[in-house]
Amino acid sequence: MSKLAIITLPDPLLRAKSAPVERVDDEIRRLADVMLETMYEAPGIGLAAVQVAVPRRLLVLDVSEKENDEPNPIVMINPEIIKLGDMLVPYEEGCLSLPDVRVEIERPSTLTVRFVDRDGREQLLDAGGLLATAIQHEIDHLDGRLIIDFMSRLKRDMVIRRFKKIARG
Ligand code: NI
Repeated sequence: MSKLAIITLPDPLLRAKSAPVERVDDEIRRLADVMLETMYEAPGIGLAAVQVAVPRRLLVLDVSEKENDEPNPIVMINPEIIKLGDMLVPYEEGCLSLPDVRVEIERPSTLTVRFVDRDGREQLLDAGGLLATAIQHEIDHLDGRLIIDFMSRLKRDMVIRRFKKIARG
């Protein structure tokens, strides 16, 4: 299975709102598998379908530690955060669509997310720590939101200009 190309800024698709997945079929499962492979190869801990140019509400995650843990791939279809904790924690986030950009972002440290799994079953998951951060980051992608949106306008414009310059070659 070949991995997929990850789109980067300033690709306008990154700003699109992804559409719900209507049916969990083999095509969606195959897409999830190739997305996981693409994410592991990158390497990254999360990837939204829109980042491989498929603007559908599908994301994959694995926040297990490479050296110490068994792989723990998670596929979320049509995820929806139904509860956010009150405590905020800062975390320096990166993004495969924004190479070399790091942004410290404060997000709720715990959440409950409802989603459909790769077998088409509805699931509820309570998450904390890095997994909670990654889920919020990836769901942001489904709504066209990027980590640079948490920067000051001045810094954000500088990053966008830099990526436009790179894209022009
Ligand atoms: Ni990202």
